[in-house]
Amino acid sequence: MTETTKAILARRSIKRASSAPIERAKIDLLLEQAAYAPFHSKQEPWNVYIIGSKSGKEKLLQAIGKSIEATQGDTIAAEKKQELLEKNKQKLEKPPYLIIITAKQVEEEKKDFEAIAAVSAFIQNFQLLAWEAGVGMIWRTNKFIFDKAFARALDIPDENKVIGILYLSVLEDNVPEVKKRSPIEEWVTEIE
Ligand SMILES: Cc1cc2nc3c(=O)[nH]c(=O)nc-3n(C[C@H](O)[C@H](O)[C@H](O)COP(=O)(O)O)c2cc1C
Repeated sequence: MTETTKAILARRSIKRASSAPIERAKIDLLLEQAAYAPFHSKQEPWNVYIIGSKSGKEKLLQAIGKSIEATQGDTIAAEKKQELLEKNKQKLEKPPYLIIITAKQVEEEKKDFEAIAAVSAFIQNFQLLAWEAGVGMIWRTNKFIFDKAFARALDIPDENKVIGILYLSVLEDNVPEVKKRSPIEEWVTEIE
């Protein structure tokens, strides 16, 4: 089995983050390598926003709060808002890094589709390379990433569509069992 095959088969989403530190230089190298993902535009469509400091996490939490206010402000009680915010705060505490990944959108269906597809390939490259380097993560598409108020609060331009937030963690005793996939007969169709 090649190292690539091993990483693809062994990788799991890490929900239980560890607070063990990750070297920033390691993340930069992994991002640089992940950028060899295929893309179909003049310029690479991805942008990456890295949050690793206490103040960065504070800003991220404030942005989540703004989104909760903008999208659910009128429909849920203040207590519920606080509860939602607290839940998000807890999820931000342990990961040494949170990485927001965006895809450049140009308001053209084909190009925008290709940008999201390329950024997804980038993210999977990053997940696999990180796995080999002892770093795990979970790719989350929290409700707030679809809200402009969230991105704007972090000075992310409107054309950079948030594709996900990666919650990073050192791989420790937090790796779940391999999750078997459905047999190919269930999803492969021969067209003759
Ligand atoms: C586009 C995308 C969005 C995801 N969003 C979430 C999420 O919001 N919350 C979550 O717990 N997991 C999320 N995941 C992780 C999936 O739940 C996970 O990949 C899936 O259960 C398969 O498990 P594995 O990654 O360990 O193989 C997401 C995965 C992808 C590809």
